[in-house]
Amino acid sequence: MGGLAEETSQRLVIFGITGDLARKMTFRALYRLERRHLLDAPILGVASDDITVEELVNRAAEAIRHSGEPFDEAVFGRLAERLSYLPGDVTDAALYEQLAEQVGTDQSCLYYLEMPPSLFGPIVEHLGRAGLLQRSRVAVEKPFGHDLASARDLNTRMRAVLREDQILRVDHFLGKQPVADLECLRFANTTLAELWDRHSIAEIHITMAENFGVEERGGFYDAVGALRDVVQNHLLQVLALVAMEPPVGAGDDDLNDKKAEVFRAMPAAEPVHYVRGQYCGYSEVPGVADGSQTETFVALRLQIENWRWAGVPIFLRAGKALPERVTEVRLFTRRVPALAFMPHRERAQRNQIVLRIDPDPGLRLQLVAQDDQNAQAWRDVHLDSSFAHDLGEPIQPYERLLHAAIVGDRRLFAREDSIEETWRIVAPLLEHPGEVHPYERGSWGPEAAQALVRGHRSWQQPWLPANGRSR
Ligand code: BG6
Repeated sequence: MGGLAEETSQRLVIFGITGDLARKMTFRALYRLERRHLLDAPILGVASDDITVEELVNRAAEAIRHSGEPFDEAVFGRLAERLSYLPGDVTDAALYEQLAEQVGTDQSCLYYLEMPPSLFGPIVEHLGRAGLLQRSRVAVEKPFGHDLASARDLNTRMRAVLREDQILRVDHFLGKQPVADLECLRFANTTLAELWDRHSIAEIHITMAENFGVEERGGFYDAVGALRDVVQNHLLQVLALVAMEPPVGAGDDDLNDKKAEVFRAMPAAEPVHYVRGQYCGYSEVPGVADGSQTETFVALRLQIENWRWAGVPIFLRAGKALPERVTEVRLFTRRVPALAFMPHRERAQRNQIVLRIDPDPGLRLQLVAQDDQNAQAWRDVHLDSSFAHDLGEPIQPYERLLHAAIVGDRRLFAREDSIEETWRIVAPLLEHPGEVHPYERGSWGPEAAQALVRGHRSWQQPWLPANGRSR
């Protein structure tokens, strides 16, 4: 770790502060950090809208109230005091001259680009030319390219003016509590650590189901599809944390090195183990092209060819307009031998370990017990922990990530080598996508997704929160 990596930013500069992400996530995250007394820097918003700082403050208040966060006037007052606003065109050098006047070139800033990726390059180049990057970091939101070549191009452009340790690539899944905690959960608990390899685990399933469609995001989504939208980034990042070896130190690169090793051990995905689906009615969504072949559902099989996981199939599925909103990682243990003490030497069902990421994060251990009424039958027993219940209210993903970005903790951000590896892994699926199967809204995707797991554990009904609410 260099000096910069540990330096807390003296100022936060948010490009695109009048946009959707700020309204939905950033203001709330900043407010929560303010409440926890973790903000100590002025915040400058930059955007093209011609508004006053008072208007920006009003928008922030509205966004926070709308988020359902209990609104404390005193906390908000402190946050409002920090806010200032600079309107301008991010492609115009004049904006950066003004920025340099306001910020000064010797400050360590966190520039958070809540902007379309096509503007990342131009913005960092302008910042560089204005001398604003020496001691600063730049955080960017996904997508990082739309394939390997474009990800490399984007990186080359950013690296021309920034060092790797100055770039924070935000993948908000890395800020979700159960994902951020995977390292501890896995390695601080012998019970899990000792089971976590091909000797005990037979299969891994990851499901990311959403019970809503593309709605008003048709224009964006149709050019992207489910594989690029959530698999190449979110689900593969989660898989790396599920599969990695223990990091050898607490430095930023120690964790990212282990994640990168997982990706490097993964052969590219094979189109024969890839199923795409599109929910009925998708093509009527505004912004979606007539006859669009974009997938809103994917199921695929992956492998990790290393000593820990060789021979353990990994199945991922993700989709919109499915019956529930739930994201989980499910590990199936190997079966125990036939039980000679049972009447017919019955085989017991496999145990399952389920980490629920959303909603209501938690851990389930599924065991089997003998049915009292029928000595030859098994009953499932669930040992469940809801983290909110057992550990208290979690830190929100953007709250965690913004704080990490401000203090320069890069462990929660995706490193370039991992991003390029993940594009390499999905590349054959992008090149040979195959047909897209229609599926009914509210179903678990096309029939072909069932065929993908034939001969393996079938897709399980995900573990849903006890209150039955999935949204
Ligand atoms: C985004 C995708 O990155 O993640 C969306 O673009 C998806 O399509 C969203 O709905 C899911 O995030 P979360 O935090 O709501 O599970």
